[in-house]
Amino acid sequence: MATCTIKTISSFFITSLNKSVLNHSLLRKQSLFRKNGSQTFAGYRAAVLKEIGKPLVVEELKSEKKLKDSEVRIDVHTCGVNSSDILICQGQYGTQPKLPFIPGFEVCGEVKELGPGVKNFRLGDRVIGLNKDKYSGFAEECVMMERDLWVIPQSMKFQFGASLIDTYGTALLGLQRRAKVSKEDVVLVTAAAGGLGLAAVDLAANVFQAKVIGVCGTEDKACLVRDKGAWAALKYDPEHVYKKTMEVTNSKGASIIFDAVGGDVFKEALKCVAHEGKVIVAGFASRQIPNVPTSLLLPQSVSLIGVSLTHYREANNEVYRQIGDNVIELYDERLISPHVSASFSLDQVNEAFEFLSLRKSTGKVILSIR
Ligand SMILES: NC(=O)c1ccc[n+]([C@@H]2O[C@H](COP(=O)([O-])OP(=O)(O)OC[C@H]3O[C@@H](n4cnc5c(N)ncnc54)[C@H](OP(=O)(O)O)[C@@H]3O)[C@@H](O)[C@H]2O)c1
Repeated sequence: MATCTIKTISSFFITSLNKSVLNHSLLRKQSLFRKNGSQTFAGYRAAVLKEIGKPLVVEELKSEKKLKDSEVRIDVHTCGVNSSDILICQGQYGTQPKLPFIPGFEVCGEVKELGPGVKNFRLGDRVIGLNKDKYSGFAEECVMMERDLWVIPQSMKFQFGASLIDTYGTALLGLQRRAKVSKEDVVLVTAAAGGLGLAAVDLAANVFQAKVIGVCGTEDKACLVRDKGAWAALKYDPEHVYKKTMEVTNSKGASIIFDAVGGDVFKEALKCVAHEGKVIVAGFASRQIPNVPTSLLLPQSVSLIGVSLTHYREANNEVYRQIGDNVIELYDERLISPHVSASFSLDQVNEAFEFLSLRKSTGKVILSIR
């Protein structure tokens, strides 16, 4: 396995980040408790979308007064930044958000207040949450449903908590539950250095001991993918990817394809699939949904598998909960190791969006809010 270090945060970035963290904590001290007439109320800072397509604005908001039955108020420490946050803010994610809107669904923090019907959490619990109903995680506090929260161990740093369940959960669901991955498999992962792709590489190589071929955009990214445990990592080049895949599989092809890119990348990856292989459709980073004739699936008896963790929440809640538990356990046992390439303060939220949009990230990008 090749070893190399990826420089993901430049010294310029660290300097500006430190300044911003200082300003940010000063502002926070000033803003948490302020007098409003005779009443003292808690305020919090949040990154707010006021107009579709415009930058987010960081401002102080009043806490929602009373929690409903199974709602939990979280002191947010970190929040994952995802492409869906960007697409929503650009008005390109199907339904339009109700404005003003606070993005961020992959929340990690501490329980600050419990609704009257909350059963499974206590004040001060360290938690991860997926807030796909309300988003609102790009803020110092947010309110979530108890059913979307998981307790995390003391050993888990908040930055890794915000980098875990959406990507690793989706990859685990696709690879283990749906594709039944084993150490006999050769798994081809596209966008292998991205949030979802790198999680799939980590799980397939290090948990399931499969032979992994990662495909990604640059040599630096390929190096990271090899470091993560991939047997081979290649830059996009259809002929090379096909040749390499055939080489390691004695011309059989990859038994599992894990794709979160779509478009032409998906079409090329499909050519590398083995007889009775499985193709996991996990996302569309290219924003192109490929149109593939189903007749292409016949000669190789290929299974096409879609996977969406969010939809398991309603369709099979037991599995949704179990996946979260399993990912936390795998982390606790040090079998997986999420990679965070950049951490931005709340005030730098628009820079975080730009960083992700320009494909500069590897693994996860997070907002470090406290
Ligand atoms: N099914 C689910 O439940 C689920 C869960 C999480 C995410 N997703 C979806 O999966 C996709 C990937 O998510 P992610 O978190 O891995 O995103 P990410 O961290 O931004 O990584 C995406 C990677 O895709 C590659 N890519 C290839 N063509 C691209 C293009 N035209 N534009 C942008 N990126 C391109 C880039 O890597 P290279 O530069 O190396 O090509 C990029 O780093 C997204 O569509 C996301 O919404 C689905």
